[in-house]
Order: sequence, then structure tokens, then C-alpha cells
Amino acid sequence: MLRCSKKDFAQNCENKCCNSYIYTMRILMVCLGNICRSPMAAGIANALSAKHQLGWLVDSAGTSGEHDGEGAHRLAVKVCKNNGIDISEHISKRFRKVDIAKYNRIYVMDKNNLRDVKVIAGDAFDDDKIDFLLNDTTLFPDPNVPDPWYGGEQDFVQVFDLLTKACEQLRIQLQP
Ligand code: 4NP
Repeated sequence: MLRCSKKDFAQNCENKCCNSYIYTMRILMVCLGNICRSPMAAGIANALSAKHQLGWLVDSAGTSGEHDGEGAHRLAVKVCKNNGIDISEHISKRFRKVDIAKYNRIYVMDKNNLRDVKVIAGDAFDDDKIDFLLNDTTLFPDPNVPDPWYGGEQDFVQVFDLLTKACEQLRIQLQP
């Protein structure tokens, strides 16, 4: 049977063969531009999966599509690199309706992302699959990951730390 490479699955493949690729969990991180928060979140979650052999496939997308084809923001790349995570090969892409079927879990960074995902997904929207990444209200009273797009390096560092905490929490939530 034809099986897609991880990269093909994430970026190109629309074929049913993707569903036969064995991952314990297929996770999509979603933000607005797919150049700051969600690529960092995907990089952190993939690193966590590799470290703990969780078998996750983690990718990211943006609701706007405005930065399609661009790399991650230079400060997102820098802050990740400073923490041993390489997102330099990330390429921005828009969230699509078909992503609802492709992933087991879809995590949005803020309330606007959730609103936009609902619009794009239409009748495919699945409440059971889609949640805030900061979904633990005891740890995160505010479910919104602040957008560092207009900020400086320190803002990206703060977002990185928040995303790391959230991904650690995901590991606990998603353990079999
Ligand atoms: P992200 O940040 O959603 O975390 O990737 C943003 C990137 C670009 C824009 C806004 C937020 N923008 O307006 O172009």
C-alpha cells in the first residue's frame, strides 16, 4: 500500500493513504497567520513527541492564508532554535475544511481562530476534535495565546514558554 511520508501528509497529500499511516495522534495547531504561534506550537509538540516517543504527527495551519508559502517569523525561528527546536523549514499554509477529517485533534490559539475555523469548516466542524490549546482553565485562566506578531523577541520568548507549558499539559491529556 502506498504510504505518504510525514512531509507529504502534512503539505500535499489528499489521498486516503494518509489515514493508513500509523501515528498515535494527528494534531493540527492553528493560528491566524501560521508564521508565529502555531509553527512554534507544532515545533514544541513534535520535539516533545520525539523526546517521549509519543508517536504524534503535529502540523500547523493559519486561518487567514495571508502568508501562504512564507517561512515562520524570524523571531519564532530564533527563539525555537535557542531552545533546540528547528522550525526553519516551516512553510505557511491555510487551514482547510479537509483538515477536520485529517486530524484527530485541532488546537486553536485564540477565540478568533476558533470563530474562523468554524466558518471554514462549515458543516464539517467537529466540536469533539477542536479545542483551545490553553484548554486547562486551572492552569490557563485566559484561553488566548497572545499574538507576538507586533512584538519583539521577549514577546516570542513569553509565547514560547506558554506554548511549552501547554504542550506538556497536552501530553498528560492525550496519554492513552
Ligand atoms: P500568528 O501571528 O497568527 O501567530 O502567525 C500573526 C501573523 C501575521 C499576522 C497576524 C498574526 N498578520 O496580520 O499578518
